[in-house]
Amino acid sequence: MIVLNPEPLDFSFLPETLPHREREIERIESIFISPVMDGLQTSLLIHGISGTGKTATVRYVMRRHPEISFHYINSLAHTSVRSVLNEFASGLGLVLPPGPINYSVIFRRIASKISQQRKPVVLVIDEFSSIARADFEGIYNLLRAREVHGVSIPTVLVSLDNPLVYFKESEIRSIGNVESLKFLRYGVGELRDIVSDRVDRAITPGACSDEVIDYIADISEQYGSARVAIEVLQKSAYIAEYRQSAEIGIDDVRAAKSMINPYITESKLASLMEEDLVVLLAVCRCLVSSRYCESSCIMQEVSVIAEDFLGSPMPASRASGVLRKLETVGLVDSRVIGQPGDSRKVYGISEVPVSVLSRKIISMLGKKQ
Ligand SMILES: Nc1ncnc2c1ncn2[C@@H]1O[C@H](COP(=O)(O)OP(=O)(O)O)[C@@H](O)[C@H]1O
Ligand SMILES: [Mg+2]
Repeated sequence: MIVLNPEPLDFSFLPETLPHREREIERIESIFISPVMDGLQTSLLIHGISGTGKTATVRYVMRRHPEISFHYINSLAHTSVRSVLNEFASGLGLVLPPGPINYSVIFRRIASKISQQRKPVVLVIDEFSSIARADFEGIYNLLRAREVHGVSIPTVLVSLDNPLVYFKESEIRSIGNVESLKFLRYGVGELRDIVSDRVDRAITPGACSDEVIDYIADISEQYGSARVAIEVLQKSAYIAEYRQSAEIGIDDVRAAKSMINPYITESKLASLMEEDLVVLLAVCRCLVSSRYCESSCIMQEVSVIAEDFLGSPMPASRASGVLRKLETVGLVDSRVIGQPGDSRKVYGISEVPVSVLSRKIISMLGKKQ
């Protein structure tokens, strides 16, 4: 047996220590946690490419500070800041009236609820990229809540790009106390340490040589991603186990690498909602024999697939919102074709064969049913 303990190979596993993120942890504590403990209102923007440990680091800091009441929201489940705030409000025990209410009211109600709490409250919004581009008004209200609504909530926003790139200089100045922290790609030595640590926790002693660890780090280096490295380790281990070997071989790592797509990792797919998977499957079906497809094809497929897998129709406006989100998280590409005045947007997937992706999605939707 090669895998002794599968948990540390799972993407949701949070180790007791995070090698090579000590500096980031320290920075978050000094520029964000300390001011919050002193009662100061502040926001922190964390950004960096996928797999650089943003979520793990934030969860690590949350675990270290039980004296703070963190409200963690994964915004992949949302299409607007307003709906994130709704989830936050209900987490605080507030019921907001149905239908649109203005931001001032939402912020004031949340602020008054927070003032009754014993612990400082912090809002953490992860996977913010999908909203950052789609809901400028929302992010404007969130980051400038102090100036615009006289209320501010200590917030950590985690995304791929710095959301401030969508703001003008003058607006950035008026936001007040916002710090940003960029997570850099991991280098080969760092990846080696991270993989080696997971090997110690998960793999039978002696079943994964230093050479194999080095090789996993080498091939993951170009992505700078711990997510890719850990996924390659996990797959290599199961491939070796399947062929009843006593240890992981170099060729198992090659096989594992060929099975994963560094841009469309399984953990990324696993973080999607059912309706995201439905729209992504619709895109795949439209692309079986063509390079690009039109949104009309996607909408038509969505109506069939939603009935099959969700048991109910998905409104076209909802499906368009999901499609925009899939674009921002990089699962679907788009381009504009045709002449000026007669142009249209088409969609494509170039990172992974659509047949492979379709199979994965169908098995995921099947499991969720
Ligand atoms: N410094 C680290 N030490 C140990 N594991 C790490 C480290 N950085 C990332 N990981 C692991 O790599 C995977 C991806 O990290 P994650 O925090 O989800 O990346 P991001 O949120 O930046 O996309 C997770 O399984 C996480 O536990
Ligand atoms: Mg993350």
